[in-house]
Amino acid sequence: MTWPACATEPAETLPAPELLPRLGRDGSFSLYSRGVEEGFHHAAGALREAREKFVRPAALERFAPGRQLRVAEVAVGTGTNTAALLAATAAAGLELDWWGLELDQRPLGLALADAGFRAQWPAAVIRRLEGLSKGPRLRLGDARRRLPELLAAQAGRCDLVLLDAFSPTRCPQLWSKEFLERLGRLLRPDGRLLTYSSAAAVRRCLMDLGLDVQAIRPSGGGSGRWSAGTVASLTPLAPHPALRALEPFEREHLASRAGLPYRDPRGNASAAEILERRRQEQQRSPAPPGRLRPPADPGGLGCSEGHR
Ligand SMILES: C[S@@+](CC[C@H](N)C(=O)[O-])C[C@H]1O[C@@H](n2cnc3c(N)ncnc32)[C@H](O)[C@@H]1O
Repeated sequence: MTWPACATEPAETLPAPELLPRLGRDGSFSLYSRGVEEGFHHAAGALREAREKFVRPAALERFAPGRQLRVAEVAVGTGTNTAALLAATAAAGLELDWWGLELDQRPLGLALADAGFRAQWPAAVIRRLEGLSKGPRLRLGDARRRLPELLAAQAGRCDLVLLDAFSPTRCPQLWSKEFLERLGRLLRPDGRLLTYSSAAAVRRCLMDLGLDVQAIRPSGGGSGRWSAGTVASLTPLAPHPALRALEPFEREHLASRAGLPYRDPRGNASAAEILERRRQEQQRSPAPPGRLRPPADPGGLGCSEGHR
């Protein structure tokens, strides 16, 4: 991997790259952000995560071949979820009508410049991803600022909304009650919002918005109690092997202080402001403190709050 912007500078003057390439346990390409101090994907691997937390619970088999699938993706990053969807929709005979929101162009550029990433996908998927990376459907900038444009054109029309931001404690801007409410407006009545996060604050917000909320079942490893993320829909979700109802202990957790939402009423607060506001609300709240997390999920994709 080379760092194009720095390639000609003497080694000693190279700034430490903020985005570090890394491989997941499945050998797939990912990045680690030094700025955020968090990986882009679960250590199990970007590819595995894309398939298990986004593609499988999307239940593409619901759609007849030839149908156009409209998808809005928040936090496109390396484009792994996009590529996985492109591959899966092509295999299912569906046409993908894709829109993406992303702050930073570099992750997708780094992925597309990486031989290992390119080797993960058929040439047609890479070509399409390259096209999307340069096209108008990838809306660059703060997703909070770009979302209204998407809503103006796509409100109530999306089959899938993928939310893959850094975890709520790192990037609460994209998990606030206000942002989730706007994202929900993108959905068709039978559309699905999919996220890797199982955070109580996120699930409770989605439930308070009137959505049916279920847990994503990890496909390999982890016990039945483990969740690999969350799916929400405006209409009741049909039973599916990738989904399960929330367990009583998870519902109880939603009613604790952990379930208090991140708030960003004006849509322009910093992460620090949102976190501090929530900390103060938690201190004042009569709700019980959040329960301890279940034990680690060795080898699986399960996680209690969605931290990577
Ligand atoms: C966990 S990574 C996304 C992983 C991605 N789905 C993938 O497959 O590589 C989070 C992404 O959110 C982006 N991001 C951070 N803050 C953002 C914001 N306010 N608006 C839009 N994107 C943001 C980061 O640039 C980063 O690419």
